[in-house]
Amino acid sequence: METRAGDGARALLRILGDLPGELRVEESLAPYTTFRIGGKALALYRPAMENALAEAVVRARAHGFPWLVLGGGSKLLIPDRGFPGLIIATGGLRAWHEGEGVLRVGAGVPLAKVARRGAWRLAGIPGTVGGAVAMNAGTRHGTIADQVAWVRVLLPSGRVHTFSLDECGFAYRDSLFRRLRFPVLEVGLRPLARQDLGSFLIERERSQPLDLPSAGCVFRNPPDGRSAGWLIDQAGLKGARVGDAVVSERHANFICNLGRARACEVLELVDQVQDRVAHRFGVWLRLEIEVVGE
Ligand code: EPU
Repeated sequence: METRAGDGARALLRILGDLPGELRVEESLAPYTTFRIGGKALALYRPAMENALAEAVVRARAHGFPWLVLGGGSKLLIPDRGFPGLIIATGGLRAWHEGEGVLRVGAGVPLAKVARRGAWRLAGIPGTVGGAVAMNAGTRHGTIADQVAWVRVLLPSGRVHTFSLDECGFAYRDSLFRRLRFPVLEVGLRPLARQDLGSFLIERERSQPLDLPSAGCVFRNPPDGRSAGWLIDQAGLKGARVGDAVVSERHANFICNLGRARACEVLELVDQVQDRVAHRFGVWLRLEIEVVGE
């Protein structure tokens, strides 16, 4: 007898089968996230061009399948039960045009490449340009919003629209596109003068556990100016562990996957951290990572 998941996967294969790009059914999502955690999607589609992405979203919506656009998977926690719909990976959107003071880059371009070519404040951040714009990724030296000229996104209607900088609603680790779930397709960036990235990268390597799978900082820094990492550290939580999920000894705002961590273990550890920090400091830490399905 066929399972329901099998039926859904086959339906997506039929609905999307003629679109250009790569389509895989019942694909495990763990390898697509920096946490290396997560169950299977009914299907994963990697379009080679923008209009194919737009068409996939329109068709998934029309057939009632949930869908999610995935960039570098660096700020995502995917549940162990997986995702009951279509994941669209932007890795194939690799446009790159240098002209007239604006660098035009596709959403799937790795942030590291842009960091080397005029966005040095973002050096060392994993992920893609699209994800970085959606969540206004940054370091203490600045965020990607400081360099955005415009952002082209997919509207729910399936049409494409370009937002100028002042229409993007950028805030700390946030944008209009993240709030409204508009997939970012392409971005115009204003390059900054060339800088040596070496010292940033060395500092990051010294202070962050980059040798283990993680999603970077798990919690947003609270508005009072204190660092979530400092609060978690002072609450004595470094090394706290649930299964294979552990609060890093090197930077307390990182939860690392020691090998076979499950999403439910990460979430239990998140609860413990929030409770302990609230109890000790009266601060409720909000998540910076996105928990799919929450
Ligand atoms: N601290 C501790 N213990 C820790 C971690 C930090 O005492 O375990 C202290 C540090 O000593 C420092 C202060 O907390 O005095 C701030 O730490 P850090 O310089 O590491 O900065 P952060 O606020 O924790 C932010 C970003 C990072 C980014 C760094 C460097 C957030 C939530 N995090 O971290 O971004 O790499 O600045 O620019 O805004 C990310 O978003 O994934 C991320 C890692």
